[in-house]
Amino acid sequence: MANVIVIGAQWGDEGKGKITDLLSRSADVIVRSQGGVNAGHTLVVQGQTFKLHLIPSGILYKDKECIIGSGTVVDPKVLLEEIAQLSRLNVSTENLTISQTAHVTMPYHRIIDQASEERRGKHKIGTTGRGIGPTYADKSERTGIRIIDLMNEDSLRQKLEWTVNYKNVILEKLYNLEPLDPATVIEEYIGYAEQLKPYVIDSSLRIYEAIQKRKNILFEGAQGTLLDLDHGTYPYVTSSSPIAGGACVGSGIGPTMIDRVIGVAKAYTTRVGEGPFPTEISGEMGEYLSERGCEFGTTTGRRRRCGWFDAVIGRYAVRINGLDCLAITKLDILDELDEIQVCVAYQLDGKICHHFPSNAKDFARCQPIYKTVPGWKQSTVDCRTLEDLPKKALNYLKFLAELMEVPIAIVSLGASRDQTIIVEDPIHGPKRALLDPNGDVAHNYF
Ligand code: GDP
Ligand code: IMO
Ligand code: MG
Repeated sequence: MANVIVIGAQWGDEGKGKITDLLSRSADVIVRSQGGVNAGHTLVVQGQTFKLHLIPSGILYKDKECIIGSGTVVDPKVLLEEIAQLSRLNVSTENLTISQTAHVTMPYHRIIDQASEERRGKHKIGTTGRGIGPTYADKSERTGIRIIDLMNEDSLRQKLEWTVNYKNVILEKLYNLEPLDPATVIEEYIGYAEQLKPYVIDSSLRIYEAIQKRKNILFEGAQGTLLDLDHGTYPYVTSSSPIAGGACVGSGIGPTMIDRVIGVAKAYTTRVGEGPFPTEISGEMGEYLSERGCEFGTTTGRRRRCGWFDAVIGRYAVRINGLDCLAITKLDILDELDEIQVCVAYQLDGKICHHFPSNAKDFARCQPIYKTVPGWKQSTVDCRTLEDLPKKALNYLKFLAELMEVPIAIVSLGASRDQTIIVEDPIHGPKRALLDPNGDVAHNYF
């Protein structure tokens, strides 16, 4: 029994959705604690694909409670579409709940996000354009609208009348855009409020009560460590805290209630949007990984930039999140390569650098130092135990574990739920995983 946080250990899109869906079978409650509809989590189960933005990836299991927590930002329009889409696929959202203290993404947030990106020109961040930054900015500025505000029509009317007029000044004077009609926005959101009402709860209390009943809680991260507002590649980051600490803040529970943190990382690296990326591969090999890995964003459809596995940012993710173990995804994408590069350190101003430099300008100048390892040139998609893996693939995984200094608990070899090797279930298993950085595979577990 354990309360487990699933974290993206790179720049997002590591396969958190797949791993969360997989682990949900051992959990009772699945919580999203930060981010909004910038997230895109893909689940593939029995040939059917599900794309989720806000709803936790435990939703496919009938008997699990799924909570959209306090630290998320909720775009009601997208959420209601997501609920409707699941319903069309015969997935019930009866056990879905939404925190009353989550903030709401409004039309002016989306417009300002897109307009400010355009204004930044070549200095743009490459946001998803979903209004995430402006929603969190209003939260910090204390002018945000929360889910609870949607539940009282009179006060919502008053609040929105004031806020829309206030935002119109920004739209008109700063961005030269058409103002929004407050009455139209108010009617639209009163409509959403009516539909969302049955889902709204005090989520911190609900999670606490579940923990007291010794239920297993799974916290599903969105985005990734390097996109963290405080600890990522600022300013090329998102506006929330995707790191493990953020799960506690965003769910309203204390850190002593967390038993384990699992980091999800691809067997290589990808990044969407702008910002430094030392191991990025240009040319044919970059194209190859992008095509073979189907590296196009779930939310915006943008092509993801591809690069080799970067153990420096990996070790940083271990430190910042206190990772206990790893889930390595998309190993199958490397199946046909003759050789694979792994970044083991950086070179900066003639010196070897083993740690992620927190100065953004230094990070942008880092040159990767690679170690070349042989490819296995054999399909891994049907492997279901570590012994099924080609020896060179197993060596690759052991090398990553060694560099990251944490054991590997899960290996993913395809998009499907079943295309997975579970070395150890982080919820039910012993604290230590079996693909030990310095040891051999422990055969007695199979
Ligand atoms: P998330 O945002 O971290 O949940 O990741 P995304 O869903 O945005 O992106 C991961 C993509 O890779 C999705 O299309 C998944 O279906 C797919 N995927 C996940 N794990 C694997 C894997 O091991 N192999 C392959 N080929 N695809 C995978
Ligand atoms: P999941 O949960 C990958 C990136 C955007 C941009 C930056 C800021 O699917 O892993 P934002 O719209 O958040 O203000 O954009 O963050 N980004 C993601 N990249 N996966 C995501 O989510 C992302 N969410 C935001 O591309 O660079
Ligand atoms: Mg994604």
